[in-house]
Amino acid sequence: MTDASTESREEIVTEAVAKRRELVNEAIEEDLPITEPERLYEASRYLLDAGGKRLRPTVLLLVAEALADAEPLSEAYRKFPALDGTEVDVMAAAVSIEVIQSFTLIHDDIMDDDDLRRGVPAVHRAYDTETAILAGDTLYSKAFEIMLETDAAPARTVEAVDVLASTCTRICEGQALDVAFEERPEVLPEEYLEMIENKTAVLYGAASTLPAVLLGADEETADALYRYGIDVGRAFQIQDDVLDLTVPSEQLGKQRGSDLVEGKQTIITLHAREQGVDVDALVETEDVDAVTEAEIDEAVARLREAGSIEYAKEKAETLVERGKDHLDVLPENEASDTLQEIADYLIERSH
Ligand code: IPE
Ligand code: IPE
Ligand code: MG
Ligand code: MG
Ligand code: MG
Repeated sequence: MTDASTESREEIVTEAVAKRRELVNEAIEEDLPITEPERLYEASRYLLDAGGKRLRPTVLLLVAEALADAEPLSEAYRKFPALDGTEVDVMAAAVSIEVIQSFTLIHDDIMDDDDLRRGVPAVHRAYDTETAILAGDTLYSKAFEIMLETDAAPARTVEAVDVLASTCTRICEGQALDVAFEERPEVLPEEYLEMIENKTAVLYGAASTLPAVLLGADEETADALYRYGIDVGRAFQIQDDVLDLTVPSEQLGKQRGSDLVEGKQTIITLHAREQGVDVDALVETEDVDAVTEAEIDEAVARLREAGSIEYAKEKAETLVERGKDHLDVLPENEASDTLQEIADYLIERSH
């Protein structure tokens, strides 16, 4: 059992990620080598190499460890014991998920007109928009090639690829709603929840359920793990919306206040509108590079006054509690304990 009283949650999660990060990074280098045309592959690897929290691959590896009741930090992710005694490369699945994450970030920054990502210039700024679109497309298709390399039994491989494909379709649907909502005077809470489930939570759902699919767990287990990912993934996006307002760009590695400038509908602005706040007038500046910290601080003060940030936090907490309940399908071990901690961490994190 992990003792959260002697070690803070942040330390537990940071350590869990740190221990797996190097292995994930080595696998990315192996599975996504820079080949010709070099500029395309360099642009494709650029954000992956810039860092990122690696939360989704960590969740995937932890679920695999929890299911197999494997020793924490098995060095053998490439030959991981499936429940029927065969061996599966779960690391390939982890890389595939992080590659999809990277693809969505590249295209998201073009859509959201953001210049900073993972503390470095966004791909369309470091290169150009044409290259960024192609780098995103390349990562999108490479993720499927990599998912086909797990050595799982054919039926499980087909199912894993199906999970990945429907995840990508839903991310596009969610991103389309996100963009469409910018033009809408009002969005209902259910619509917002549907949008964030699609654009963000499904990738956590995939990261959580794929080990069950690949290792041959039963359907009930795979479904419960998917629900875990969806609930904590929705909470993760709510926290992302809060951090966009409250955390300096240097700490966030992306531009603070971008959502306000772009006119995004978030759970915070939804609530504020209900409270009679003129959300569209909160920030006058229309260019994220020109908006000042003072302007954002002022907007955040109004949103706090309206109780909108507190409201978002409460919603996220409810989702996390629900998400953790789904982990009952896992055996009790260090990995499943860490997945509980990660759920809470996703809404306590400050970057
Ligand atoms: C950013 O995800 C995209 C969202 C869904 C909000 P992360 O905050 O996990 O980004 P990285 O991977 O750590 O850069
Ligand atoms: C992103 O939502 C969801 C993706 C599919 C990338 P955001 O637009 O809020 O993500 P950030 O804040 O730019 O990372
Ligand atoms: Mg964005
Ligand atoms: Mg976006
Ligand atoms: Mg955001």
